[in-house]
Amino acid sequence: MVDSRKWFAEIPATRRRHFRASQRDGVAIDVAETRLINFASNDYLGLSTHPAVCLAAQGACANSVGSGASRLVSGDDPMLHRLEAKLADWKGYEACLIVGSGMLANMGLLQALADRHTHIFADKLNHASLVDGARLSGAPMHRFAHLDYEQLEKQLNKHTAEKRIIVSDGVFSMDGDCADVGQLLTLADSHDTLLVVDDAHGTGTLGEDGKGLTAMHRIAGHDRVIEVGTFGKAFGAYGAFILGTNELIEGLRQRQRSMIYSTALPVAMIAAAETALLLIQRGEQLAQLHANLVRFKAGVKGMDFMASDTAIQPLVAGSDARALALSDALADNGLFVAAIRPPTVPEGTARLRFTLSAAHSPEQIDRLTECLKRLI
Ligand SMILES: Cc1ncc(COP(=O)(O)O)c(C=O)c1O
Repeated sequence: MVDSRKWFAEIPATRRRHFRASQRDGVAIDVAETRLINFASNDYLGLSTHPAVCLAAQGACANSVGSGASRLVSGDDPMLHRLEAKLADWKGYEACLIVGSGMLANMGLLQALADRHTHIFADKLNHASLVDGARLSGAPMHRFAHLDYEQLEKQLNKHTAEKRIIVSDGVFSMDGDCADVGQLLTLADSHDTLLVVDDAHGTGTLGEDGKGLTAMHRIAGHDRVIEVGTFGKAFGAYGAFILGTNELIEGLRQRQRSMIYSTALPVAMIAAAETALLLIQRGEQLAQLHANLVRFKAGVKGMDFMASDTAIQPLVAGSDARALALSDALADNGLFVAAIRPPTVPEGTARLRFTLSAAHSPEQIDRLTECLKRLI
């Protein structure tokens, strides 16, 4: 007999994810009534608790909270258009489309761009939203080994459909390393494909100006390039945006189901993101993040961290049990670090994913690195 209580019974206890209610207070986090320093957030610039960002959100929702409908019905607030213009200008693209979240952006983008006649070429470590978007589109998907562009080229030579798309994270969310988006565009050019770059983690954190990977590699605004960014990470808010040519963005307005059939982003989030953009452009938090990163890397020198120059600094523990034990030991020392286990990362590569923020003080970073020296 079908029984909802037994429906998911096959998920083993060791692989069950735990949702621990935790309240954040700046860079501190209260977990089970214990106050820890948070090294497990994507709030890389500390903007989610910045007074100006909070004030902007409060002001915007003084008279209305929800947007009430999809953008195509009555939820298309003028603030969305103003922020889209600012984002396109900042990132160096013709046009921009704001959508509900990064998950919705990527699932809807690939579903809109591709169909069963289109071929998608995807890095094996791409974010789940890109994998799901490709699946949703029904397009044949060819996954190349992480950053293995020789394998990608072989796949491009083999699968010669008229419409093809190379899809890659910019900064990889669980590894902290970066795609060579310059080389990807060279391949896209020579094989006549589109290139989708999801720079959710590079936007606001990379480069002198925080514009992210495509700006660093000078490929932003290229006709073949479509970029995705989110407000949920360095912007400290919630939501996402897609950048590209005028025609491409207009096409998405017509076709992107995850935007058309979903309630528009609430004004509080748009106002928060707009203020966050201003702060990112001023650069104060970005400079602090980079200084914190230098301090952290000096502190963990000689330890077995994965090669990463971004705010995401993973340490592979191997087994799930070791990752959990290390995370618990850090918590005993007042430090909150997430243990990331399969299926989020490949089998046997369970890890601690440390994320740095501009909001961390030098003392907090030293406390973490000193503790790691004792534990490892
Ligand atoms: C690379 C990447 N893309 C997209 C997303 C999804 O973004 P959101 O949290 O706004 O849904 C994430 C979230 O972790 C991500 O790491």
